[in-house]
Amino acid sequence: MNIKSLHLKHNILLAPMAGITDLSCRLLMRPFGLGLAFTEMVSANGLVLGGDATRDLLTSVPEDRPLGIQLFGENPATLAEACRQVGPHGDLIDLNMGCPVKKVVRSGAGSALMQTPKRVAQIVAAMRRATDLPLTVKIRAGWDQSSINFLEIARIAEQEGADAVTLHPRTRSQGFSGTADWALIGELKHRATIPIIGSGDIFEAEDARRMLNETGCDAVMIGRGCYGNPWLAKNFLALQNEQAAVAPSLEDCRDVAFRHMEIFLRYNNERKAVLDMRKHLCWYAKGLPGAAQFRASINQACSIDEMRTLIRHFFEHAATIEVP
Ligand SMILES: Cc1cc2nc3c(=O)[nH]c(=O)nc-3n(C[C@H](O)[C@H](O)[C@H](O)COP(=O)(O)O)c2cc1C
Repeated sequence: MNIKSLHLKHNILLAPMAGITDLSCRLLMRPFGLGLAFTEMVSANGLVLGGDATRDLLTSVPEDRPLGIQLFGENPATLAEACRQVGPHGDLIDLNMGCPVKKVVRSGAGSALMQTPKRVAQIVAAMRRATDLPLTVKIRAGWDQSSINFLEIARIAEQEGADAVTLHPRTRSQGFSGTADWALIGELKHRATIPIIGSGDIFEAEDARRMLNETGCDAVMIGRGCYGNPWLAKNFLALQNEQAAVAPSLEDCRDVAFRHMEIFLRYNNERKAVLDMRKHLCWYAKGLPGAAQFRASINQACSIDEMRTLIRHFFEHAATIEVP
């Protein structure tokens, strides 16, 4: 699959997810077969004002490619300037028009843009002029059930020079409730002349294949489905090649948990690792015997050594329990 000049080896992409898809998460996931991964959403205003925390979100390494940088903002000139600044850090720039978070929406950014088509035209045009990198937009179905306008917003983006559109077919009001209406992805694919990426409710490799088949979209984007499950991308690729899926063993889960932590520690201090790794470690343990107890203790852990011991004990204990 190609997005403008960018060739993607696989049609399964890792979604931008704030608080999740940092450098360590992307590096952990890449060997499992991602065509493209995205940064967490990056504030254009924060970048232009020179915020260090914002700039940190751009941290990457050569193995972390191809990389899409996702920007959010509401001002065309600021977003254009942000495009110029992030250009050297990635291979593609994406505009966030889906974030439902109140603070973001109140500023007119994220999914609030779905309510201002004229502004979308100005923003995409300004970003297009500012960068030669492939430019994509990520949208929702609309603001709410009474204003479903993804076709209009996608058409505007396309007219103003966007090279692909990702659709998460829920409204802003829905947040993450209900189910993603994949039929809308099919509708968009039918109308658009640029590649369409489908996002929403892919939890198993079979879901990804079904989305491709049912909607005709060009690529699928995995989000929450990768929590504790980097094998999702690998199993999707296996399914496409009519190969058997792998069911990760306890040792596989343990090794991935340790690997994730070690990668995280390469780029962050221990204090941050202790806090940020908790959720990932709980996801690696999910569904296994003793997971609730593990969750309680990992959330109390104060050092990496303590976390390492807890992981080791948890998987040793899980191995002694026979699953009926
Ligand atoms: C914790 C979390 C953070 C997210 N952050 C972003 C973000 O920064 N930018 C964005 O475009 N979408 C974001 N999303 C939406 C996802 O990219 C994706 O479109 C959505 O979760 C639907 O896919 P899924 O059902 O596979 O999770 C986020 C979702 C979650 C759960």
